[in-house]
Amino acid sequence: LSAAPANGTLAGRTVTITAGGTREPLDPVRFLGNRSSGKQGVALAQAALAAGATVRFIAAHIEVPPPPGAELTVVETAEELRKATLELAQTSDALIMAAAVADFRPASVSETKVKKRDDGEEPVITLIRNPDILREAVQQRDAARAPQLIIGFAAETGDESGDPLAHGLQKLKRKGCDLLVLNTVGRSLVFGQDSTEVTILDAHGAEPETVSGSKSDVAGAILARIVAVLPAGD
Ligand code: CTP
Ligand code: CA
Repeated sequence: LSAAPANGTLAGRTVTITAGGTREPLDPVRFLGNRSSGKQGVALAQAALAAGATVRFIAAHIEVPPPPGAELTVVETAEELRKATLELAQTSDALIMAAAVADFRPASVSETKVKKRDDGEEPVITLIRNPDILREAVQQRDAARAPQLIIGFAAETGDESGDPLAHGLQKLKRKGCDLLVLNTVGRSLVFGQDSTEVTILDAHGAEPETVSGSKSDVAGAILARIVAVLPAGD
């Protein structure tokens, strides 16, 4: 287990962290959501604050209190998360995309509550793709030639086309981020749990590093990797 970065090692640095699960409205009272608790994002924010960073915390739906001491932006949908993330990332040394972003949203949102009907017609929900925020953040960074670190998260199960590690390595390449924190999920693992095991994949050639422990241990290990690879400040 790699230790958390020491106090002050991120002084003068700005870290933007997204956390929680986005919610995509169907009508004024209903949404499509996911089970992300936001705990890993909060643990990351606490570790970054402890290391002296300025932390911008972009919270989709979270089930725990936001980290005191961070600059808080609250969002609901993937589109709102996208706008806040792309804006705040522009002036950040690191972006950590710990949020669980809905891949799809309802193609249309009803302005009034959807009611049951008596004619036997049941509603069908048509979904459209949400933007890939992580991918766009990488493109924005590359276009600006900014010396910024971008960290993604992925939860993978194995399937007929590969094991979780293979899927994670493919995703790291596809997204173009610097690190990908890989969770290998079973049916009830990870979401909402206090302890976890992840493998940190590195786009720049470091061997995969497996970290297990509390979400705070995992956050410390991720922050230590950020400290190790951030280009020297002015
Ligand atoms: N992500 C994002 N925007 C999306 C979907 C995901 O920024 N629309 C980010 C997540 O915050 C995470 C990373 O991309 O850091 C990987 O998320 P994941 O859902 O595993 O990736 P997807 O490309 O959506 O792949 P999959 O089809 O396996 O869900
Ligand atoms: Ca996804």
